[in-house]
Amino acid sequence: MTARIAIIGTGNVAWHLARTFENAGHIITEVYSRDIIKAKHFTTDFFNASATNSLDFRKSTAQIFILAISDDAIEEVASALTLPQDAVLAHTSGSVSMSALGYAQTKNIGVFYPIQTFSKGKKVNFDELPIGIEGDNDFTESILLRLGSSVSTKTLVMNSQARKNIHLAAVFACNFANHMFTISKEIMSNKGMDFNLLAPLIEETLSKSLQIGPENAQTGPAKRGDFETLDKHYEALSKSEEIAEIYRIISQHIIDYYA
Ligand SMILES: NC(=O)c1ccc[n+]([C@@H]2O[C@H](COP(=O)([O-])OP(=O)(O)OC[C@H]3O[C@@H](n4cnc5c(N)ncnc54)[C@H](OP(=O)(O)O)[C@@H]3O)[C@@H](O)[C@H]2O)c1
Repeated sequence: MTARIAIIGTGNVAWHLARTFENAGHIITEVYSRDIIKAKHFTTDFFNASATNSLDFRKSTAQIFILAISDDAIEEVASALTLPQDAVLAHTSGSVSMSALGYAQTKNIGVFYPIQTFSKGKKVNFDELPIGIEGDNDFTESILLRLGSSVSTKTLVMNSQARKNIHLAAVFACNFANHMFTISKEIMSNKGMDFNLLAPLIEETLSKSLQIGPENAQTGPAKRGDFETLDKHYEALSKSEEIAEIYRIISQHIIDYYA
């Protein structure tokens, strides 16, 4: 199937989906941004896409409209869109209900949620990337499933509640874990040391966690009950109250978990 797709948004997810769809043989018809300069800049990478800052898509030849914009803007932008007849409109959020598209001009609303972290410019392999699909009717679900299957072998149907659960778990697994790396990097660089010294440790942590399960992979002073070491670390963090508090709460949680 070759789909004609309009991308609404020019952020991280829009950047990845537009490329992935075009590489899979689909046609990107338009790219919307409220800032026309951003839309124009974005479209230069695509064969047939035109840039727009108008939400009036009446003359669009796209069949699928992907709303890859900030969670908080989804409902407002969806209701402001003017769409061609029978258009399928899907947002890409893990945490926003499909019903946020309820005021859109089409009854064909759904969700296309790629379970991955995306940053512009950092390539991601979609081949086995899980994509959660939801459709308000069979037609929408089948269109989005076909679109998902054209880029990944792991497309699956899930409702808004299941998607929200995954997103909550993903915040811990991805966003919080990554913030721990940021704190770790700051501790190293404050002492003039190279964060990359920890690269093998980080890689082994991820691979071991996936291989034997995170609950079996835990090591460290809190797991061992080395309270003197915990006190020394806490003391070393005394100048950064918030980081010390994060250290204390997570260490206590590990102690309680393995008690
Ligand atoms: N990044 C991820 O790892 C990831 C993964 C899975 C799903 N998602 C979901 O994908 C969606 C997009 O995320 P993202 O990471 O691509 O966000 P992003 O990089 O921050 O981009 C957000 C986009 O939304 C646009 N926008 C914000 N408010 C708007 C408004 N009121 N009207 C029109 N456009 C507006 C922004 O336009 P301006 O540039 O003009 O501000 C920008 O193009 C979100 O629903 C997110 O939950 C993200």
